[in-house]
Amino acid sequence: MYSGLEHKLRKGLHSKRFVKDLILLDSTDSTNNHGLSLKEKKEGMVILARKQIGGRGRDGRLWHSVEDKSIAMSIIIDYPKSNDSITFVPLLSANAIVDTLDFFGLNSKIKWPNDVLINSKKVSGVLCESSFIKNYSNFIIVGIGINVNLNSEDFIKDGIDYVIKPTSLKMETSKNFSLEDIATTLLNNFSKWIFEYKTNNYDNILKFWKNNWFDEGKQVSVIKNGKLITGTAKDINLQGHLVLQMEDGLEVINSGELKI
Ligand code: BTN
Repeated sequence: MYSGLEHKLRKGLHSKRFVKDLILLDSTDSTNNHGLSLKEKKEGMVILARKQIGGRGRDGRLWHSVEDKSIAMSIIIDYPKSNDSITFVPLLSANAIVDTLDFFGLNSKIKWPNDVLINSKKVSGVLCESSFIKNYSNFIIVGIGINVNLNSEDFIKDGIDYVIKPTSLKMETSKNFSLEDIATTLLNNFSKWIFEYKTNNYDNILKFWKNNWFDEGKQVSVIKNGKLITGTAKDINLQGHLVLQMEDGLEVINSGELKI
């Protein structure tokens, strides 16, 4: 399945510099769990599984992957020196996914902060988690799931109550895609965006992100401090936070849950 990946990555313009170690698993509960549990972590390690049976999504939700039909990948990066820039990690990850889908001829949009949608349905999601040593974060594990060759029955069978209707590349195009080619392109694009991040090109990250923003101008509901608030998605500020236009002014959302 992923036998040619290493060779292809070495040829990739960006990935040959960033990807240091490729861990290919036949089966795992979650590639993020695998990454978190590694004793010797280092930036540029990538964990990729053919089968993921306990995939985790954001806010404690389940993430459903199907053997040899889904991308289940985790990428380890150093924890940023400044906490302020950490918001950009989910944003740049979404950029890498949008770039990748675009390469395969698919137009996608980003729902804040990092759900990737095709025709308003969710095709990919990102779960970023920190690993700690003695209460200090030392690495971020960026977990990326992409629904590639799944059929609608694959989603019906899984019994998950989806917040956003799911889709796959196959369902949108009636075509099958090579997981290896998608993984290669994704890692090359991720490496490109992480380079922008490391060189403090936050403007570039934000510009691309905003150009592909799904929610802009739409009514969105967010849970902030346990309270549901609704406003119009107006902007993403320079810190990567969502700015909502409320009846009585602007509200900045640092983290939270966008509901449709
Ligand atoms: C979300 O949209 O809620 C995030 C989904 C993230 C899923 C990926 S699949 C690879 C990695 N391993 C996991 O357990 N989760 C992430």
